[in-house]
Amino acid sequence: ALNLRNRHFLKELDFTAQEFRFLLDLAAQLKAAKYAGTEQPRLRGKNIALIFEKTSTRTRCAFEVAAHDQGASTTYLEPAGSQIGHKESARDTARVLGRMFDAIEYRGHGQAVVEELAAYAGVPVYNGLTDEWHPTQMLADLLTVQEHCAKPLPEVSLAYLGDARYNMGNSLLVTAALLGMDLRIVAPQAYWPGEGVRKSAEQLAAVSGARLSYTESVAEGVAGVDFLYTDVWVSMGEPKEIWVERIEQLKAYQVSMDTVRATGNPRVKFLHCLPAFHDLGTTLARELHEATGMTELECTDELFESAHSVVFDQAENRLHTIKAVLVATLGS
Ligand code: CP
Ligand code: NVA
Repeated sequence: ALNLRNRHFLKELDFTAQEFRFLLDLAAQLKAAKYAGTEQPRLRGKNIALIFEKTSTRTRCAFEVAAHDQGASTTYLEPAGSQIGHKESARDTARVLGRMFDAIEYRGHGQAVVEELAAYAGVPVYNGLTDEWHPTQMLADLLTVQEHCAKPLPEVSLAYLGDARYNMGNSLLVTAALLGMDLRIVAPQAYWPGEGVRKSAEQLAAVSGARLSYTESVAEGVAGVDFLYTDVWVSMGEPKEIWVERIEQLKAYQVSMDTVRATGNPRVKFLHCLPAFHDLGTTLARELHEATGMTELECTDELFESAHSVVFDQAENRLHTIKAVLVATLGS
């Protein structure tokens, strides 16, 4: 049997397909147990530090509720709420927290920081999102894909539209490559994942049989897919000034009911890691509306609220999948 005890969870490239599927299966079991009221706490007495250098709703809450459900406790260090990076290096922070906690979650900017924490903490370190990767999101997304599509993963096709150079594009590409899926990056060429990530993905695909493709054509990219996926056009940490230019470059890739029709698949499902910009319900949205006249960005409200959308199942699955990571790496 597989044993992931004491392992870090830093990026998809560190895992085999078998290990990734093991975590998905464990998440499905934990979800079923929670629903049935038969969940067994396997993390009693464990303490987990949650460092967030960027804001979060889902990831933070998923770690906290997962830990609580399993009998562990958490300490939340808010953005700018610790000395890390400002007054104390990641290396020193890791050695301090490693003496007090059984595991450390980190959300921040560079992947190098979470890798450095992992190198020095002496306890498992989990990546709760960096500029480069969002691996816990991948577990939730793949669990959602399995729940909404009866096909085995190697037969599932997914088109990702929008900015694919960042955490979501990178992670989806590598995860699909690992699991042997059909993944299409649909974006202007300047927004495709970087060469290094594409190369790693191609190497995995050579083993798994994954079909990876890149196109600027929406019609070509989405034809026949089972899932449409998009993410915000400007990510956390990017300057606000680029919004207007970004909208100009990506607006042809907005995911809407037209995109659904272009798939030719009436049962196509819509995924989004969230938060999403689909109405004027936020201060940022209202500001951008003033500046650009846009009332919705990467996806339309009509699609977001339609029966195609499974985004809240996806959000819930952050809990069950993060719990699987905690139980697999720390559980008794
Ligand atoms: N999808 C996701 O990571 O959401 P949060 O930023 O709210 O954690
Ligand atoms: N690409 C987005 C994902 C948020 C979950 C960001 O980094 O802000």
